[in-house]
Amino acid sequence: AAGSHVPALIIGSGYGGSVTALRLAQAGVDVHLVEMGMAWDTPGSDGKIFANTTKPDHRSFWLRTRTKQPLSNFLGFPLDKDVPRYTGILDAEEFGGITVYQGRGVGGGSLVNGGMAVTPRRENFGAVLPSVNVDEMYDVYYPRANAGLGVTHVDPAWWESAACYQYARVGRKHAQRSGFPFVFVPNVYDWEYMKQEAAGAVPTSALEGEVIYGNNHGKKTLQKTYLARAAATGRLTVSPLHRVTSVSPAAGGGYTVVVEQLDTGGNTTAVKTVTADRVFFAAGSVGTGKLLTRLKATGALPHLNNEIGKGWGDNGNVMCGRANHMWDATGKLQSAMPTAGIDNWDAGGAFAEVAPLPTGIETYASFYLSITKNPHRAEFTWNAAAGRVELDWQTAWKQPSIDAAKTIFDRINAKEGTIYRTDLFGSHRIWGDHLTYHPLGGAVLGKATDNYGRLHGHPGLYVVDGSLIPGNTSVNPFVTITALAERNIEEIIATDL
Ligand code: FDA
Repeated sequence: AAGSHVPALIIGSGYGGSVTALRLAQAGVDVHLVEMGMAWDTPGSDGKIFANTTKPDHRSFWLRTRTKQPLSNFLGFPLDKDVPRYTGILDAEEFGGITVYQGRGVGGGSLVNGGMAVTPRRENFGAVLPSVNVDEMYDVYYPRANAGLGVTHVDPAWWESAACYQYARVGRKHAQRSGFPFVFVPNVYDWEYMKQEAAGAVPTSALEGEVIYGNNHGKKTLQKTYLARAAATGRLTVSPLHRVTSVSPAAGGGYTVVVEQLDTGGNTTAVKTVTADRVFFAAGSVGTGKLLTRLKATGALPHLNNEIGKGWGDNGNVMCGRANHMWDATGKLQSAMPTAGIDNWDAGGAFAEVAPLPTGIETYASFYLSITKNPHRAEFTWNAAAGRVELDWQTAWKQPSIDAAKTIFDRINAKEGTIYRTDLFGSHRIWGDHLTYHPLGGAVLGKATDNYGRLHGHPGLYVVDGSLIPGNTSVNPFVTITALAERNIEEIIATDL
């Protein structure tokens, strides 16, 4: 309601926002969580909350009239199709040189991601967040994050024989024959549920390919973990389909927060004003980066420093597929939850996730999402004439990522006598170099904020999400985002409240 007052307002319900909500609520603070996406708690006319990966519908994309699938083509056929404009779950947000995929809804990226819950190798952490105490992270906050997220390993004996991981076993064989370390990575999927899926005892979910447009059963999203625990305190209020558009100092102290209520067509149906003692920016790297850049440039938050909007990177994401020989079938049944990667970080600057290609048919393709050591960093800037925030990332900046990925796949192709697939991204392209799933940075820890996420210049404003991390984590990022949020909120609760 207009003129209402809350002690703590959190913008966005992804990893940073959910950790912050739980820990504040447990500390006795009433928390208001504002999320621009939908609640995703109600089945559609087909009885399911989320659409299938191979059959995207209105639920699948954020305010688009045509899908923009990460793999745009298959066997020469374009895959995208018209859909009704709707506040769907996956945002393919387009900037000049890159499309940034993000989750939209209560749970943020946890709704759409592959659940790969990877803690970086300890010796690589210093390059990720140099001002953070490594011992504390690995002794306290990474374990806390992994426990809170429900991270576990697949049963290796089951994995060795499961039809749905044949693609991963082919990936291992090829990695090892070329001399690369093949590492299992944990996930937040409920492995017992997946075994039941494989046994035909429960509705299929990961084995139905459900991932980027939501997963109807086995994945432990933030809705099932941090947010459920936060709700159980009785101190959490969640407002889905509400978008924060402004934060500025309030006359009597605290901050005035302007919030637009949206309908499922994306139209603003009401504009509300709330006063908050403290505001936590958890809108994700792009959401927080854009918001802070605009609020600084337009004078709403004039004392933010010149680091706002800087240090943005794509975690070096680049995709590719390889065409296997007929004796290396990858299986028509593929679990949508990846379990392993190829670690060539030290020698080649690449960590390649062995990813599923859940098409329902035998493709003889091996598919990979590589995370690479890419040195390029972009910046968000305010275009006053156009009234929007822009990002100066250039497509050509992916070249170091392609080069790093080639240190793995050129060698595997040479060893196996195989070639790259050229039918996945359109125009006979080998590399999916137009996108990222892992935006990071924009309000970097120790630069735009102090060493715990307090924004410089405006006491009571905090950044708690992936925008704190300067562009790269060496592995998939959500465990690090969660662990850093756990570290920072503990300090903020102890010192500021
Ligand atoms: P996150 O993006 O999760 O949450 C931000 C929330 O804020 C969103 O819900 C958004 O709608 C909301 N918001 C934004 N602006 C707002 C505003 N103005 N007002 C109100 N709300 C607003 N990572 C990983 O570790 N392992 C994996 O397997 C994968 N796989 C993967 C697949 C795909 C398809 C994607 C898109 C991403 C991944 N990721 C991943 C990445 C991972 O999901 C991502 O790094 C985290 O979700 C980022 O967490 P944050 O808390 O920073 O923001």
